[in-house]
Amino acid sequence: MPEHTKVMGKEWADARRQANVERLGATLAAALAGRTSLTFELGCGHGHWLAAYAAAHPDEFCVGIDLITHRVERSVRKQTLGKLDNVLFLKAEATEFLDALPATVALRKIFILYPDPWPKKKHHKNRFINAENLARLAAHAGPGARLHFRTDDADYHAWTRDHLAAHPAWRLAADVPWPFERTTFFEERMKDKRDLVADRA
Ligand SMILES: C[S@@+](CC[C@H](N)C(=O)[O-])C[C@H]1O[C@@H](n2cnc3c(N)ncnc32)[C@H](O)[C@@H]1O
Repeated sequence: MPEHTKVMGKEWADARRQANVERLGATLAAALAGRTSLTFELGCGHGHWLAAYAAAHPDEFCVGIDLITHRVERSVRKQTLGKLDNVLFLKAEATEFLDALPATVALRKIFILYPDPWPKKKHHKNRFINAENLARLAAHAGPGARLHFRTDDADYHAWTRDHLAAHPAWRLAADVPWPFERTTFFEERMKDKRDLVADRA
């Protein structure tokens, strides 16, 4: 591909990302007005887990995001059927969501459940967990914030443990009981559970 085409492609992608962040910023400013603390699920899929969590924790305000429209629609249906007024499901890309989140809102509890493991080595760069995204999460994580990560994939589990151990903003926590069980859509298929919990350092 000619160099100028690559440059134009990157400029277009950056402009589109910036427009998404601005649009999400306006949505979040309105939807989260007056809120200072959130329970956040990144990649909520069909919303089974977060809808059940929100029903069991009426004193927490929860936000779940996913990239895929029909999964978000199914999540919203659970929120509506359950008459849940403490959960918001949004279609959003995680880094755009975090860049758009108002600075006045802190992530108190973060859940990443069965994220795409990208098992092939050449695709590891697509894994959500990396130093940059751990810093992004940390930038919004208030004091006492806790990150909960669960995967069936042994390699992604080890990768995440190593990234958390190396990151100055997070401290791995040992022997912490998993706070809430509700089988997720992917958990039902994957069966294995490998958990990590980390606190904002
Ligand atoms: C394997 S599924 C797990 C879904 C759900 N947590 C569960 O356990 O059933 C991973 C989900 O993360 C979403 N996802 C992946 N990357 C994402 C990103 N950067 N931002 C938002 N969602 C993302 C995918 O669309 C998918 O629904």
